[in-house]
Amino acid sequence: MREAGKVLGELHERLKELVVPGVSTYEIDMKCREMIKGYGCEPNFLDYQGYPSSVCVSVNEEVVHGIPKKDRFLNEGDIVSLDTGVIYKGYHSDAARTWPVGQVDEEAIRLMEVTREAFFEGIRYAVDGGHLFDIGKAIQMYVEKNGFSVVRDLVGHGIGTHLHEAPEIPNFKPIGRGIRIQKGMTFAIEPMVNEGLYGVENTGDGWTFVTCDGKRSAHYENTILITDGEPEILSLNI
Ligand code: MF3
Ligand code: CO
Repeated sequence: MREAGKVLGELHERLKELVVPGVSTYEIDMKCREMIKGYGCEPNFLDYQGYPSSVCVSVNEEVVHGIPKKDRFLNEGDIVSLDTGVIYKGYHSDAARTWPVGQVDEEAIRLMEVTREAFFEGIRYAVDGGHLFDIGKAIQMYVEKNGFSVVRDLVGHGIGTHLHEAPEIPNFKPIGRGIRIQKGMTFAIEPMVNEGLYGVENTGDGWTFVTCDGKRSAHYENTILITDGEPEILSLNI
């Protein structure tokens, strides 16, 4: 999983370079597939429950699971979330980043920053002996303090020999404390943060989620490993 994560962290840095005005979301998918193959890995999203691409490309009011298309082009001023993952020797990684397309407005920058920072607030509680729902509680508090809202209908998850494993990891505080976190567990923590209301809805394609109020959304995700001390962020190379 360390290797799958390392590849993915680097892959995201390379995908970032493709985010320019005029590029089609399909081109990003094609290049992403090639890069994953180049690492000797497999794309885990492709054919997952029929999903047609190696990467989810979600623009502006699209929250997650946007499907790349030949006739969908990125425009200056958009924000775009890229969510992808790889399999290395049977082990999965999963991570998302939200990037600006060219110059974007101040509010968009703040939305992307708060989303990323919310992830780091959350993983302070991703410690051996901790309670699972404290992660989402911290994420929600940070996001709401900054005037945005967290998506409730979609959650983070365990990850390992499958992309999605138990437990579900909400980005908000449910009733109760959740399971006790133990070292050796591997999670995908993935705050999805809306500029306006927290509600999302599915579109006609059966995959793409959009905000119910049409305002923008950002996504930031990493695969992490619970240790004796601070969690290890497997899909972020610093
Ligand atoms: N990272 C995404 C998630 O955890 C995975 C999407 S699966 C796909 O929800 F099929 F939509 F690609
Ligand atoms: Co995920």
